[in-house]
Amino acid sequence: MPISTVIFDAYGTLFDVSAAAREAAEDHPALAEAWPRLAEDWRAKQLSYTWLRATAGRHCDFWQVTQDALDWALEAQDLGAGLRQPLLDLYWRLGAYPEVPGVLAGLKAKGLNTGILSNGSPAMLEAAVESAGVGGHLDAILSVEEVGVFKPAPEVYDLVGARFGGARADVLFVSSNGWDAAAAAGYGFTTLWVNRAGAPRDRLWGDPAHEATDLTAVEGLT
Ligand code: LAC
Repeated sequence: MPISTVIFDAYGTLFDVSAAAREAAEDHPALAEAWPRLAEDWRAKQLSYTWLRATAGRHCDFWQVTQDALDWALEAQDLGAGLRQPLLDLYWRLGAYPEVPGVLAGLKAKGLNTGILSNGSPAMLEAAVESAGVGGHLDAILSVEEVGVFKPAPEVYDLVGARFGGARADVLFVSSNGWDAAAAAGYGFTTLWVNRAGAPRDRLWGDPAHEATDLTAVEGLT
């Protein structure tokens, strides 16, 4: 069966998670040197907290996790608490990667179903979609809050079938997070790993069928 539905991860895939620290550095000299490590620590802690909470059965929403991870990352470099709110405000309205609007519009022009499947809370995702101006190209914004556990729990990937139906292989799942792409492939989705950073493949229980350096590869797979 050809692809009927294209589902995107949000953070790192559609929205540039480094942008908050990078843009904050323009207004805050304390971040001039510190922002790359801040961005890296913030993301790494955010993801590890999601995995730990999922494993321990201690769910809270992704906005809480995002704040907790930022507090760790600021303290790790002795950066002032005054940076906290500006960074969170920027995270709330992260920009999309430049190719995103055109890729989404192209999928809708082909009559495909489109959606987001993300750890993000519904409010965070709505805000990011609105600030990127791409809501008109998306049929569904699916949040893990519907099942109360973070990726890569299979209940999260089940949300796609519950919303759109069809076989798992008829879904093209697109993620820049290697572990998310591997888990989605293991679940049975046709998967594109957008490997923007040229990272090695994650050694997990699934292997993405496709790999590219940006989202424009979606056009050739649909
Ligand atoms: C998400 C995380 C994995 O959007 O970036 O689900």
